[in-house]
Amino acid sequence: MNALNIVILAAGKGTRMYSDKPKVLHTLAGKPLVQHVLDCAVSLNPQQICTVYGHGGEAVPQALQQYSADFVMQEPQLGTGHAVQQAMPYLQDESRTLVLYGDVPLIQHSTLHQMQKAGEGLVLLTVNLDNPAGYGRIVRNDQGDVMRIVEQKDATEEELLIKEVNTGIMLVPTAKLRTWLGNLSNDNAQGEYYLTDIVAMAVAQGEPVHSVQPAQTWEVEGINNKVQLANLERIYQKEVASRLLTQGVSLIDPARIDVRGELVCGRDVEIDIGCVFEGKVSLGDRVKVGAYSIIKDSSIAQDTQIAPYSHFEDSEVGADCRIGPYARLRPGSKLHEHAHVGNFVEIKNSEIGQGSKANHLSYIGDSTVGSRVNIGAGTITCNYDGANKFRTIIEDDAFIGSDTQLVAPVTVGKGATIGAGSTITKNTPPGELTLSRSKQLSIAGWQRPVKGKK
Ligand code: UD1
Ligand code: MG
Repeated sequence: MNALNIVILAAGKGTRMYSDKPKVLHTLAGKPLVQHVLDCAVSLNPQQICTVYGHGGEAVPQALQQYSADFVMQEPQLGTGHAVQQAMPYLQDESRTLVLYGDVPLIQHSTLHQMQKAGEGLVLLTVNLDNPAGYGRIVRNDQGDVMRIVEQKDATEEELLIKEVNTGIMLVPTAKLRTWLGNLSNDNAQGEYYLTDIVAMAVAQGEPVHSVQPAQTWEVEGINNKVQLANLERIYQKEVASRLLTQGVSLIDPARIDVRGELVCGRDVEIDIGCVFEGKVSLGDRVKVGAYSIIKDSSIAQDTQIAPYSHFEDSEVGADCRIGPYARLRPGSKLHEHAHVGNFVEIKNSEIGQGSKANHLSYIGDSTVGSRVNIGAGTITCNYDGANKFRTIIEDDAFIGSDTQLVAPVTVGKGATIGAGSTITKNTPPGELTLSRSKQLSIAGWQRPVKGKK
C-alpha cells in the first residue's frame, strides 16, 4: 500500500463561535478540537501531516508545537480545494493523501483504516442523513456508481432529495490530486474552489471511486457553534462512560462523569456522580471515588477510599488510604499506604508516611512526615516567610497536638509529642513533650469590668 500523507483543514473562521479564539482551538474533553484530529492522524502512522490554518490563527501552530507536522497558512480562504492546494508543496506524489477537517474532532482510527483498505483510486467517506440540508450530496448513476458531488447551493430540486452526503473526509492518490486541483474553477454558486469537484474529474478519467461509511454518525459531526460543541462533548463522555462500564467499572450514573484525558481503572472500581478526571489518572483495584471529586494527573493505589468533594492534582496516593471529604492534595503530594487525610486538609509538595493521619483542618506544605504520625486538628506548617519556602520534617511516631504551628525550617524528632496550641520555631527532641504555650492560670476573685457611670 502507498505511503500516507494527511492534510488537516483548519482555516475556517468559526464566525458562529462568537469567540476571539480560532475555532479549532476550542476544547472537547479538555483538548483542542484539532488535537483530537491530529492524535487520530498520528495513530495512522503517516509519512507527512500538514495542517492548513487561517489568517490571524498563529495561535494554531503555536498550540500544536509538540506534533511533528507542517503548518501552512491559507489567506485568503477561497474554498476547500484552495485549502488543500496550499498543502501540496509538502506532499509526496507517490503517496495517498487523506483530507481531514480540524473541526470534525471525533473521527476514529478504525473508520480511516477502513478507507485505506477500500481500494485504489479515490475513497470518499459518506453518510446517510435524514436531514441532509447544508451538505454536499453524493450523486450516483443507475448502477450506483459515484458520479460527482454537488454542493447544496448548486444542487437541483431532485439532487436536494439525496440523503447520502459528503462528510468532507476523503483519500486521494496524491499525484492525481495535484493535477485535479490545478484544474479546479470557482464557477459555482459560492465562487469557491471546491475540493469536491475532483470527484467528477476522477470519474471522467476512469479512476475508481469508492465510498466508505463511518461506524457511527457522530464521528463525522462538525463543530460550527457552541451548541454543536456541547452536544458532541456529551456524546464523547457517554462513549467514555460506556467503555468504562464495559470494562467493569461501576459508575453510579454514566451521564454524570467527565473524563478529560486518560482514565485507567483496575477491577471493582466505583465512581460516584459528578466526578471529573483530567490528564492521566489511574485508579487501582477496589478504589472508591466519592461524589464530586476532581482528580488530575494522579495515581490512586488499590483499596483507597475517597470521600466526596476531594481534589487531587499531580499526586500519588498509596494503597488503602482514607481521603476526604473535602480534602485537597496539591501538586507533589505523596501519601504512603494506610494514610488518612480528612476534611479541610490541604497538602502540597509533601510526603505523608505509612499509617500517618491528618484528619481535620490542616495545612501541610513542603513537609516530610514519617510513619504513624498523628497530626492534630488545625495544625499548620508555616513554610513561607514571604520570600522563601522552607521544609518541615516530622519524624516517625510523632504526635502533633491540635492547633500547632510548625515554623519551618524545623524538625520534630522521632516519637516527640507537641502540646496543643504550640508555636514551634526550633527543632524538638525525639521522645519528649515540647510545648510553647503559656501555662494556664486562674485568678481568684477576678471581676469583669463594668460600665463606668457618666
Ligand atoms: C464542505 C464540503 C461538503 C461537505 C461538508 C461537510 C466542499 C466544497 N464542500 O462544505 O461537500 O458536505 O464540507 O461538512 O468541500 N476550510 C478551509 N479553508 C477554506 C474553506 C474551508 O480550511 O477556504 C475548512 C474549514 O475550516 C472546515 C472545512 O474546510 O474545517 C470545511 O469547510 P466548510 O466551509 O465547513 O465547508 P462546507 O461548505 O460546509
Ligand atoms: Mg461546514
